[in-house]
Amino acid sequence: MDTKNVEIYEKLAKKYDLATNIVSFGIEKIWRKIFVKKVKKYIKNGVLLDVASATGDMAKEMDFDKMYLLDPSEQMNKIAQEKLKNKNAIFIQNYAETFECPQKVDLITAFMAVRNFDNLEEGIKNLDKCLKVDGYFAIVELTKSDSILFKLSMFYMTKVVPLIGGIITGEFEAYKKFPKMIKNITDEEILQYFNNYEIIEKQRLFPPMATLIIMRKNG
Ligand SMILES: C[S@@+](CC[C@H](N)C(=O)[O-])C[C@H]1O[C@@H](n2cnc3c(N)ncnc32)[C@H](O)[C@@H]1O
Repeated sequence: MDTKNVEIYEKLAKKYDLATNIVSFGIEKIWRKIFVKKVKKYIKNGVLLDVASATGDMAKEMDFDKMYLLDPSEQMNKIAQEKLKNKNAIFIQNYAETFECPQKVDLITAFMAVRNFDNLEEGIKNLDKCLKVDGYFAIVELTKSDSILFKLSMFYMTKVVPLIGGIITGEFEAYKKFPKMIKNITDEEILQYFNNYEIIEKQRLFPPMATLIIMRKNG
């Protein structure tokens, strides 16, 4: 497993929430709100698996009977544990590609998650094993488009964010690697591994840098 990107997240963990909020001008929070509202239209309880859970902000918004948070970063998990003290949350420090599913779940949330997988196909296939038939797989991911706004946003993400992020966290070296972590992934690249799913929501978010996808698993 290539652990380089996780090493970066380990370094950024303590200031991750603050830095993300500042460099995204709060847009990430708005996207999360839209995502949570849409997901709750279909499913509100049962067992949740949040992949690439980072500091636990997704699980914080959810009131599921049981929540598994999956992330390979020890530091991210520590912060999430503190945030979710009062929730029924179980932490799995592992990769999407290699974790062992503890039980079948009703919903998998992957918010800004899948582009971080070292191997997208293996990650999605391993997660799929953990989802019940008729369960939901919900994704928000940064995805490519041809629009000028997308190109401008990418310029901001790859040239400006590393600088501001470095100033906020003091981790200039870690942020230097940030542009490489913003992989130019397309909707199709993600969706090619979801053959056994029905897409029930697909929406380009604004600014046009990310796509929201909600799918239901067929039998
Ligand atoms: C952008 S953050 C995710 C944000 C988070 N989902 C949220 O709701 O705020 C990316 C996370 O992906 C994790 N990660 C990196 N490689 C991973 C992998 N192969 N499987 C699962 N998580 C991974 C990192 O440790 C990091 O915490």
